[in-house]
Amino acid sequence: MADALLRLESARTGYGPNDVLHGVSLTVREGEIVTLLGGNGAGKTTTLGVLSGIVGLRQGKVVWEGRDISGQATADRLRQGLVLCPEARRIFARLTVEENLIAGTWVRDPKLNKAKLEKTWERFPILGQRRKQLGGTLSGGEQQMLAIARALMGEPKLLMLDEPSLGLAPLIVEQIFRILVEINAAGTPVLLVEQNAHQALKIAHRAYVLATGEIVREGTGSELLASDEVRRAYLGED
Ligand SMILES: Nc1ncnc2c1ncn2[C@@H]1O[C@H](COP(=O)(O)OP(=O)(O)O)[C@@H](O)[C@H]1O
Ligand SMILES: [Mg+2]
Repeated sequence: MADALLRLESARTGYGPNDVLHGVSLTVREGEIVTLLGGNGAGKTTTLGVLSGIVGLRQGKVVWEGRDISGQATADRLRQGLVLCPEARRIFARLTVEENLIAGTWVRDPKLNKAKLEKTWERFPILGQRRKQLGGTLSGGEQQMLAIARALMGEPKLLMLDEPSLGLAPLIVEQIFRILVEINAAGTPVLLVEQNAHQALKIAHRAYVLATGEIVREGTGSELLASDEVRRAYLGED
């Protein structure tokens, strides 16, 4: 088995006097799509916050490529390829598609950016067609694609996504998840946080279930898909 690219070890944190995460551990290895599943308020976004350095730890650590990066700022983690595509898409409504993408790069080299943009138009032809359009005029699905494309401009070694399917129609969700599979197949590991479990588990190599700040289940995507308990609690089936 490949070495861990990212390890969260016994993460404990919260916002007020009470902890929200009660010792969360998870691992992402090279080549994997890992899904972190959990209902509203389970602590998924907080976990991504801890991994990306937005939320500090009270206990535990974040290990990236074998090094403890718990004390590192978000920008330093970004430069090392730990990239988060945040919830609610957060694109710039008043910038064009192209400007949104340029804003996603650290390198201000126009030549390099041009090459990266060409790659983006190949992967997301619809964004190429809309490159001069303002972000705010895109559909929800297109905005999500733009958010993913922008994250890719940062050349992630790990792409983390916070509920990319939220509020999108099933067909669009399928398309977004297909893109994630393609990105993974091209060599980028993915940590996918989702509430919408079915498709997320279908594409996951491994998955964790988070409930009130604790990992309550883990297994392969297909193991969790087959679990009655998971089906009832997270797939809305009975
Ligand atoms: N900035 C914050 N300040 C105070 N409490 C917060 C903050 N963000 C999240 N929480 C609380 O932490 C818990 C976990 O939230 P979150 O990580 O956003 O869960 P999820 O992403 O799984 O819905 C919730 O009870 C939420 O109300
Ligand atoms: Mg969340």
